[in-house]
Amino acid sequence: MNNLKSIKDHFKYFPLNSGSGNYNMTKEEGGKTFSITVIPGDGIGPEVTQQSVHVLNAIAHKFHHQFNYQYCLMGAVAIDETGSPLPDATIEACLSSDAVLFGAIGHPKYDNDPTAKVRPEQGLLKLRKALQLFSNIRPVTTYPSLQHLSPLKKQRLEDVDFVIYRELVGGIYFGEKKTNEDQTWASDGCEYTKEEIERIAHQAFRAAMQRRKKLTLVDKANVLETSRLWRKVVKDIALEYPDVQLDFLFVDNAAMQIILNPKQFDVVLTENLFGDIISDEASVISGSLGLLPSASVGVSTALFEPIHGSYPQAAGKDIANPLGSVLSAAMMLDYLQLPAEAKLVREAVQWTIENMFVTKDIDPVNFYFTSTVGDLICEYINGRVSGVFSQENVELRKSTII
Ligand code: IPM
Ligand code: MG
Repeated sequence: MNNLKSIKDHFKYFPLNSGSGNYNMTKEEGGKTFSITVIPGDGIGPEVTQQSVHVLNAIAHKFHHQFNYQYCLMGAVAIDETGSPLPDATIEACLSSDAVLFGAIGHPKYDNDPTAKVRPEQGLLKLRKALQLFSNIRPVTTYPSLQHLSPLKKQRLEDVDFVIYRELVGGIYFGEKKTNEDQTWASDGCEYTKEEIERIAHQAFRAAMQRRKKLTLVDKANVLETSRLWRKVVKDIALEYPDVQLDFLFVDNAAMQIILNPKQFDVVLTENLFGDIISDEASVISGSLGLLPSASVGVSTALFEPIHGSYPQAAGKDIANPLGSVLSAAMMLDYLQLPAEAKLVREAVQWTIENMFVTKDIDPVNFYFTSTVGDLICEYINGRVSGVFSQENVELRKSTII
């Protein structure tokens, strides 16, 4: 049913064997039907996710697909409504769908209360575990028209294009946690097994094979036993990928190299905590944290989310950047083996950026609203702006600061 060659050509981030389940082909129209669980989450999550759903609808319309959405709760909103950050119904919906689109998680009332018994983030961690999303893929790209926003100098930014493979269901995030009764001592265990390292390492090597054939393992092998295991396992696996150049960086050095010379990276492979830290660091290279998408894949349904947080100060104001979420939806389309559809979404995003139809994080004076940027992407997909495109019409929708 699927044309394997064209999938391979377009599958930049996902290994070929990570398909998402059964697709129903509607033969008359040549379209496909997918069930997508949508978890808007907290803060700006709902408004950016809404734009992605609009974009997916525009894609469905153009390519005659059908996306059936099921909306579910997770995070602070779920605690408010059900007492749990991840109701069972959400897990069940995710497990029985083709893909999950997720917004953001977190609320200040929990951040400032270290004694809180339930926390929104527990919902996301539990979902990652439930879906066995062991591989978190975070591509870092730069856009020439946004180089002025990057904290890095222009000459360091050209041709930066790398992807971080972060292990997502092991390490210190999920190790044994202990505190003593009088709260004067605490510990978090960090464990990895050979198998946990192998499965993500294979994905990262396969990605490297389809890219520039370079893989950097980021660890702290001069200090940590788990890092020494990572090095050993990854070195062994490298023998199966002789075309890939493998090198190693200690995480402290890697943090420095990402700023000094980000061009050197192609695929970066690392454990859970290091990946969390260096991916936030890497995200600012492109100019705004609001731009970066991510995919989490594993043995079951895959999940797609922007890497930004819930940004509560902006919630409900229609000012958040929807592009991180929309680009996550594009990764989802790739994963669902719809490469032409994914490409069109990326092209539309590129078009908004090049024309500076951007939100306040990118242009604090002449900015467009979240919903306007979403509408423009849909219009591009619908073909309404290619050819004779009226700059004036779009200009009218620009907000003005009074
Ligand atoms: C991320 C986030 C999460 C993490 C939080 C919200 C638990 O920072 O996805 O990077 O630490 O993994
Ligand atoms: Mg993070």
